[in-house]
Amino acid sequence: MITSKQLRDKWIKFYESKGHLNIGAVSLIGDGTTGVMFNVAGMQPLMPYLLGKPHPSGKTRLCNVQGCVRTVDIESVGDATHFTFFEMMGNWSLGDYFKKEKTAWTFELLTKEFGFDKDKICSTVFEGNDKAPRDTETAELLKSLGIREENIFFLPKKDNWWELEGTVGTPCGPDNEWFYPRDGKGDSKDFLTSGRYVEIGNDVYMQYKKTADGYEELSNKNVDTGFGLDRLLLFLNGFDDGYKTDLFAGAIKYLEQVSGKDYDADEKARKAMRIIADHTRTSVMLIGDVNGILPSNTGAGYILRRLLRRAIRYCRDLGVDAAEMIGVAKVFIEQVYDTAYPLLIEKENYILDEIEKETKKFQATLAAGIKEFEKCITGMERKNAFMKEKDPSYIPETEMTGKQAFRLYDTFGFPLELTKELAAEKGITVDEKGFAEAFRVHQEVSKAQAGSAKGGLTERTEMTTRYHTATHIMLAGLRKMFGNKTEQKGSNINEERMRFDFNCDHKMTDEELKELEKFVNDAIAAKIDVVRSELPYNKAIAEGAYGVFNPKSQDEIVSIYTIGNVDKQICGGPHVNNTAELGVFKITKEESSSAGVRRIKAVLNDR
Ligand code: ALA
Repeated sequence: MITSKQLRDKWIKFYESKGHLNIGAVSLIGDGTTGVMFNVAGMQPLMPYLLGKPHPSGKTRLCNVQGCVRTVDIESVGDATHFTFFEMMGNWSLGDYFKKEKTAWTFELLTKEFGFDKDKICSTVFEGNDKAPRDTETAELLKSLGIREENIFFLPKKDNWWELEGTVGTPCGPDNEWFYPRDGKGDSKDFLTSGRYVEIGNDVYMQYKKTADGYEELSNKNVDTGFGLDRLLLFLNGFDDGYKTDLFAGAIKYLEQVSGKDYDADEKARKAMRIIADHTRTSVMLIGDVNGILPSNTGAGYILRRLLRRAIRYCRDLGVDAAEMIGVAKVFIEQVYDTAYPLLIEKENYILDEIEKETKKFQATLAAGIKEFEKCITGMERKNAFMKEKDPSYIPETEMTGKQAFRLYDTFGFPLELTKELAAEKGITVDEKGFAEAFRVHQEVSKAQAGSAKGGLTERTEMTTRYHTATHIMLAGLRKMFGNKTEQKGSNINEERMRFDFNCDHKMTDEELKELEKFVNDAIAAKIDVVRSELPYNKAIAEGAYGVFNPKSQDEIVSIYTIGNVDKQICGGPHVNNTAELGVFKITKEESSSAGVRRIKAVLNDR
């Protein structure tokens, strides 16, 4: 038995012993350079360095364990081997060592650390094509290490070439993949056909750059190694179900307890438990990330919403309250990823709160939406029966209209994919084009409505600048009183007053309002300088800065305003030079703005 924590350690220690620097994991949220929303491969954050830029550490041998999120297969989750989050154990040579060292180290790792029998290891290499040569060099090295000749296979590009599909300007190259028989039987005659062999990991020899129509040789000869932690863990423990490893065992046990159902015996419950566990885990990772996101109706936020809502739907299938997802999330945060992702512990309350909010928001409408969905289906069935009676040659309808699907989205918050999944269970399809059209029409109407309302940014005058600085101090006060999960949800400033919206689960008491007022006035009385600085985004965050800000990349330079030890926010400014310029701060109103969001109006009076 080897645990996930032991496996991560083993990987890092092994490569540290070969002179690698452990660079740790970075954000799961894509940095925008590849056009993908999430980090989908361990090498993704290293792309600039694989292309030749020196790594900031000054080192050319790196390793880490990097979380990745891939949601293309979301509908396959529910079986034994598909997950939307996984960890990639990686190591890299940036123009340092190449094939000789790499083959030897992977061989050593597999035979010495994992106890694999060298005679049973199979390995595949690139057979070559008109763009890149056959990788006989790697094959020869494998042989010299003791891998049997009959266990080495030359395969075409579709098997032994690694690149980020759909991208241009990214590093890529032939790869060398490592396999081991699931049943421990060594005879490799059936290697290509039996499915007995499991891919353990791969070494990519990244020496090319993908261009629009081919490949360009890079000046650097790099190595990019990736071993999937989740899969290797499964294999090393002799399981064939990914939900049996320690990564999932706790979550499944929790779901068994609250549902009273047996994972092994009950197939329907098993599928639901897998989906709830997988999607909750990925949601925890996305909300708790350094660049954490929240459920929304666009982009990455929409994917997160889809994951959460799909899990909520399966809670219904399992017969448990969706609030149980909080318990599942806790298991992941406190027991499984506590050491590898300590930030999750720090952000635990925030993560749990956000999951709870989304479950509350969606639960009530889920039941209503399913009813509405069933009504559409019944309507269709009735119509089909009626028409068929009149005309036996009538071809029955098997497609839900785009308008119906849009109504489920708009009124009941059903992601299109959820509707499609429900429909598929009834053997019908959804008119996706019609959905897109209904969506477009709806957006145009809302835009026209928004355009007629007064909007736009306020112009910054001396007075509005004062209010802006006061807003920073007040938010700092709110975070001190209610915790760092408190965020700006809206702000509107004019010459006369400031208006500020923030998340808060209760109406503020008079005492709380007094405390907040005092906090701001104390900061004013302390005559603190307001100092602007510039830092790369990740450094700013590491130094405790916060703010509603979506960086284009981790090292994008951002502007930060620091008010002594009162506040540090990422912000474009402008601000006053010293808090003494603000005058006297007074709250004039506290009211509800929307569900879970409070609104404060306040003024600054002259002394
Ligand atoms: N980049 C390679 C992979 O993701 C190592 O498999």
